[in-house]
Amino acid sequence: MGVENRVVVVTGATSGIGLAAVRALKDAGYQTVLTGRNPDKVKVYAAELGVLGYTLNVAEEESCTSVISTVEKEIGPIWGLVNNAGIWLEGDFEDYSMSQIKAVMDTNTLGTMFMTHAALPTMLERGSGTILNVVSTGALYCRKNISVYAGSKWAIRGFTGCLEAECGPKGVRVMGYYPGKVSSSMYDTAGVPRDLDVAMTPDDAANMIKTMIADEKNVWGHVSARSINDYV
Ligand SMILES: NC(=O)c1ccc[n+]([C@@H]2O[C@H](COP(=O)([O-])OP(=O)(O)OC[C@H]3O[C@@H](n4cnc5c(N)ncnc54)[C@H](OP(=O)(O)O)[C@@H]3O)[C@@H](O)[C@H]2O)c1
Repeated sequence: MGVENRVVVVTGATSGIGLAAVRALKDAGYQTVLTGRNPDKVKVYAAELGVLGYTLNVAEEESCTSVISTVEKEIGPIWGLVNNAGIWLEGDFEDYSMSQIKAVMDTNTLGTMFMTHAALPTMLERGSGTILNVVSTGALYCRKNISVYAGSKWAIRGFTGCLEAECGPKGVRVMGYYPGKVSSSMYDTAGVPRDLDVAMTPDDAANMIKTMIADEKNVWGHVSARSINDYV
């Protein structure tokens, strides 16, 4: 069966890995849906890539349930979900404000759970579907200055593994992708620019996402990759 009827929703797709993933999945033939929290960016990038776009703030439960049901009504059953939206936070824990902590947990952790909670029931009903969570190598080790970001992603590592065990036998693949440094604007947006000459590109990450989604005979489980130059 071809993939052109397979609707795949990508969150946080107005930049970096998400935008590259929409391009890669669209090129692979999927009916790819671009979503992002900024309506102007959604409009521009959806038009540029020739896909449908929806405004979606993953940190708001209502926004998640409403976009999932709108996509199912307007396009069709959602076969794939790429939970990619995320934000970076770096520094000593005691210096973070509570609103910064909440924003990271709401976006990276609850956002992934809200979207999954909204999309999963119809996947389970059909006995088929794919959920891919973009996690991070930050969920594989511990280091100073990333306590909240790492905590938000370690939670998703556990969530992903448990959900895989729960949903795999029911026909829904749940997988986690754990990239190292990627040359997106994530660090600049968080106000902590760094040398990204050593990083993977968003296209490198997107190609891995496409492979994990397209190779349906395997549940790729927890997959990590980093650039060979990224030993800093
Ligand atoms: N860059 C890295 O080194 C790296 C490494 C490992 C894992 N990751 C993970 O990869 C994912 C993508 O990051 P990236 O590097 O591509 O960063 P990015 O270029 O900053 O892109 C992040 C995307 O998420 C969107 N976003 C942020 N908050 C959102 C919300 N509440 N609702 C919906 N969308 C939201 C952003 O929207 P706006 O355009 O409106 O800001 C943007 O489209 C994240 O989960 C990140 O943690 C990144």
